[in-house]
Amino acid sequence: MGDFYTKYEYAKKMLETELEILIHSFEEKHGYTPVEHVKSRLKSMTSMKKKLEEKGYEFTKENMEKHMNDIIGVRVVVSFLSDVYDIVSLISHSPNIIVKERKDYIANPKETGYTSYHLIVLVPVYLENMVEYVQAEIQVRTVAMDFWASLDHKIRYKFHESIPEEVKREMEEYSKDIQELDKKMYYLNQIMSKYQ
Ligand code: GTP
Ligand code: MG
Repeated sequence: MGDFYTKYEYAKKMLETELEILIHSFEEKHGYTPVEHVKSRLKSMTSMKKKLEEKGYEFTKENMEKHMNDIIGVRVVVSFLSDVYDIVSLISHSPNIIVKERKDYIANPKETGYTSYHLIVLVPVYLENMVEYVQAEIQVRTVAMDFWASLDHKIRYKFHESIPEEVKREMEEYSKDIQELDKKMYYLNQIMSKYQ
């Protein structure tokens, strides 16, 4: 499976570079840094096998290509709620990234309480005189949303998906707290901008 990852490695690099440029030009223009950090990864064979089996597909190269939309995963963590939409807009307007699908789990949180903005994108990779469009998932979220999601991730890992009701209820509530907090931080940011 060594060369399975080759085109994904290229596409991930392309995407990282494009994001770096987009964010940098945003900073130049607006004189402030919206991004806390960017993290990217390629999905491991172990997680792809697990995911395919959960979905009822055989663990084959074809099925990975066809049924996994997050072999490349990029996460952009920003300070304020408004930054999420600014980053999404930057990506959407880039001629080097094609947005295939968007899921606004901020406007419509998942049942668990999960919030983030997801984009499924296509990035062109030039291989041997031809272009191939490689898919990637970009998650854009605030620091507060990232905090919630990483705690949720740890809980899921610990309880292997059979999470006690009590824990689920708490997490749903904290998700609402975080949504409130993000609104407050956004409000504060607007007040602060009056003084600059
Ligand atoms: P899969 O969940 O990957 O089968 O695809 P999907 O079509 O349901 O995509 P969705 O956008 O719902 O979720 C994709 C990714 O979002 C996951 O791989 C996680 O990284 C993240 N995610 C979605 N729901 C949750 C959640 O409840 N908690 C946490 N921590 N992450 C989540
Ligand atoms: Mg899902």
